[in-house]
This record gives sequence, structure tokens and C-alpha cells, in this order.
Amino acid sequence: MPDATAPDARGIARAAKALREGELVVFPTETVYGVGAHALDPDAVKKIFQAKGRPADNPLIVHVPDVAAARRLTRGWPTAADALAHAFWPGPLTLVLPRAAHVPDITTGGLDTVALRVPSHGIARLLLQAASLPIAAPSANRSGRPSPTRIQDAIADLGESVHTYLDGGPTYLGLESTVVALADAEPTILRQGSLPRERIEELLGPLRARTHADAAPASPGMKYRHYAPSAQLHLHASAAQAAAHAAALRAQGERALLVTGTEHPHEGPDHQRPGPTTDAHAWARTLFATLRDADARGYRHICIQTIPDQGLGAAVMDRLRKAAER
Ligand code: TXA
Ligand code: MG
Repeated sequence: MPDATAPDARGIARAAKALREGELVVFPTETVYGVGAHALDPDAVKKIFQAKGRPADNPLIVHVPDVAAARRLTRGWPTAADALAHAFWPGPLTLVLPRAAHVPDITTGGLDTVALRVPSHGIARLLLQAASLPIAAPSANRSGRPSPTRIQDAIADLGESVHTYLDGGPTYLGLESTVVALADAEPTILRQGSLPRERIEELLGPLRARTHADAAPASPGMKYRHYAPSAQLHLHASAAQAAAHAAALRAQGERALLVTGTEHPHEGPDHQRPGPTTDAHAWARTLFATLRDADARGYRHICIQTIPDQGLGAAVMDRLRKAAER
């Protein structure tokens, strides 16, 4: 297994050089770890798709240091982009805009738009500055696996295909960025994420939601299986129901992990409590690690309590529903 690199001046310089030379670098953002490549170098970007086993029509998010750098990759910057960038960048928001001609097809999955984000994580910002180029970076997992929130998760998934793994410790938000398309007249939310939808709607009014029912998914990533652990996930409206289901499975000799809010009394080693069900942040931060650890510890089932479906909780619930799909 490759080693993680400390994100000190030497580590950042090494990672920036690797990016300039067309190699892959894993780095922390405030949401999840990303696997990055020089966004304007098609050969470098191709390595991301190979390392992840990612379908070629699923476009990447391009990370830039500031609004000026973002604008250079677009043709057209609507007032809504100004409002959102001013309010939420740097931070966990991705904007989809008409792309400039020099953004390669492979980066955008052949679409006429480009997804842009200015991350707030200090290490991501230092890396953008040192490399001095836009960094295309999807989450640093194998396609279909939960996003990595710890460096060891990225190393386990991507191994030797990455030149440098910058270790920034566990990421603090834990869910990916919220993706909003501003390429059409009507702003559309393509993916719920760490920035609650309500915060965006305070500025723009109601957002259109893109659903699976739409003829052509505007966000190609939506049609692929996501966030799935090997264990079967079971969603339950109450802690008592989740606990009863876990007990029934164990009575049949199955290994079942119980996950509930801290309102529920602790039942021992096969029971995890991320926090109160009203603390969506605590659930968001630990969700993907919980799914990965459940697999590593050999659980066949995860019986999990649902949390209120609003604000950040709606993004947590979106990931839980997707992870429960078979
Ligand atoms: O928090 C995040 O967003 C992380 C960190 C590393 O920045 N990145 C991330 O990237 O989650 P990824 O590739 O796992 O998810 C990007 C999503 C996918 O659903 C993709 O289909 C969508 O954004 N996307 C990218 N470019 C797009 C475009 N031009 N139009 C519509 N959707 C796009
Ligand atoms: Mg991803």
C-alpha cells in the first residue's frame, strides 16, 4: 500500500509538481477527499477515469482558487452565479455553467457545461496555489463506493494509481458539495450536498429539482449506483424499529450493525450512535466512514434509523436512500 504524505511545504510542493507533470494527487477538501489531475490536460484527466473505473460520460468537478479563475473556464456568468459565489465560495457548492472552449471534452464528459467549485479546505487551497492550474477532482473512491472521508479509504480504493496522497486527517463535512446548474434559465439542483438547499433558495427562490424521471439526466452521475457498501442497508423510521430488526437478524445468525441517534440507549459493540438525530452535521460527517467500516468488520446488514429530511438532513437521507438501493 502507498504511504500518505504530510501536507507540509515539501508535501504540497511534491503534489503540485506531480499535477503539473500530469500525475494524480489525492487531497482533502472540506467535504470529502478528491483525486485530482490537471483539468486542461486530457491525458492526465484520463488517468482519473482509469483509476476510479468511472464511466466516461460522468463529468468531473473542476476546482479553482477563486471566482476569477472560475470565470475563465466559462462563457457566460449569470448574476445568479455572482450571488451564489459571493455567498458560498470558498465552500461546498459546485456551479454548472456553460464551458469555455479550452476545457477538454474528457473533463466535462462531452457536455457543453463545466462544473466549478472553490474549496475552502486549507490544504486544497495551498495545492491550488502551488500548482497554479485548475484541478479536476471527483471523490477519491472507486466508482460506486462510498466517498472517502479519511486518507486510508482513498488509498484502499485507488492504490498505486495515485502519485501522492496528501493526508489532511478526517474531512469535516463528510458529504460531497451541493451541485447547482445555472446553465439554463431555471436554476436546478442536480445533487444535494453539504450546503443545504434552503440556504441557496434564500437567495434564488425555489430551485428546480432534477429527478430520475427526467428524460436526459443533466447530471450524468445521478444514473449510476452510488455510496453502496457491500452490507445491505435497512432504513427505519424509529430507533426501536431499527433495533428490533437488528435483533431479529441476529437471531437468524446474521451479523447486523445497528445505527441510531444518541436518544437511544447504547446497546454495545454492534451499535453506533453518530449523534442526536437532530444533529444532521454529526451524521453527515461520519456516514461514509460508518458504511466502509461496516464492510471492513464483516457486517452483512446495517439497520439504521432515519433522520429528519430537511436542511443538511435531506442530503444525509439522499445518501442513505441511494446506499439502500439494490
Ligand atoms: O464535494 C465534492 O463535490 C467532491 C470534492 C472532491 O470536491 N467532489 C465530488 O465529485 O463529489 P464527483 O465527481 O464524485 O461528483 C460530481 C458530480 C457528479 O454527479 C457529476 O455527474 C456532476 O457532479 N457533474 C460534474 N460535471 C457536471 C456537468 N457539467 N453537468 C452536470 N453535472 C455535472
Ligand atoms: Mg463521487
